[in-house]
Amino acid sequence: MILQVDDIEVLYEQVILAVRNVSLAVGEGQVVALLGANGAGKSTSLKAIAGLVRAERGEVVRGRILYQGEEVTRRAPQALAARGLVQVLEGRHCFAHLSVEENLLAGAFARPRVSRAQLREELERIYAWFPRLKTRRRSLAGYTSGGEQQMVAIGRALISRPRLVLLDEPSMGLAPQIVEEIFEIVAALNREEGVSFLIAEQNIEVALRHAHHAYVLESGRVVDQGPAQEIARREDLHAFYLGGQAAQG
Ligand SMILES: Nc1ncnc2c1ncn2[C@@H]1O[C@H](COP(=O)(O)OP(=O)(O)OP(=O)(O)O)[C@@H](O)[C@H]1O
Ligand SMILES: [Mg+2]
Repeated sequence: MILQVDDIEVLYEQVILAVRNVSLAVGEGQVVALLGANGAGKSTSLKAIAGLVRAERGEVVRGRILYQGEEVTRRAPQALAARGLVQVLEGRHCFAHLSVEENLLAGAFARPRVSRAQLREELERIYAWFPRLKTRRRSLAGYTSGGEQQMVAIGRALISRPRLVLLDEPSMGLAPQIVEEIFEIVAALNREEGVSFLIAEQNIEVALRHAHHAYVLESGRVVDQGPAQEIARREDLHAFYLGGQAAQG
């Protein structure tokens, strides 16, 4: 297992119980989907793993998180990133006033000792995965499309050569075709570079099609889990757990 989360509970501002009871695991080289409706606790779970809840006055008050077999509960995000665990936040945060390339380079902070030549090589590696970004490398990120901004956010995470990437709703607000393109790149990165992914998604259909395993969250709890193909066959999934989005699926 590259990641193991044992029964965590997360509170914001000492009173708001956002995650009550979440246990999950990501095997080495796996793509795992974390499904759930608005407010189910997907983002909070990812932020707890990446050490980011504290920045929002949140705290993991119970349970533990193991990364590559070592307990990392409450560890700082920079320390985790240096060990290869990075998160791409919900809403594809880019530095709007920086170019696409400058945004990508900003992700290299996790590896402070790389040379210029190595950085160049890493950039070319990212451009090979996301050819659209190469053509837009000099554009200000703020002027690129939503899909390109999501690619910038993912590319920035990948430049530090992570082993586990936490992706928070990569499909949000994007057209189906671009969502498909992004998920196909993620699946290829997983296959060819062995990067593991934990992906929070409300777009159940596309997430299950690209994941090996899935967990379903409801009100801060894991209420269902299994191989993605099995979860995809549950006809009651949408109606019971996922806010009745069946019409979209
Ligand atoms: N920074 C915060 N401070 C206080 N409460 C928060 C904060 N962030 C989230 N919450 C609350 O925690 C619960 C879980 O929210 P979370 O954002 O983790 O859900 P989610 O599954 O990611 O939802 P969405 O699909 O809308 O992104 C919600 O009740 C939410 O209102
Ligand atoms: Mg969220």
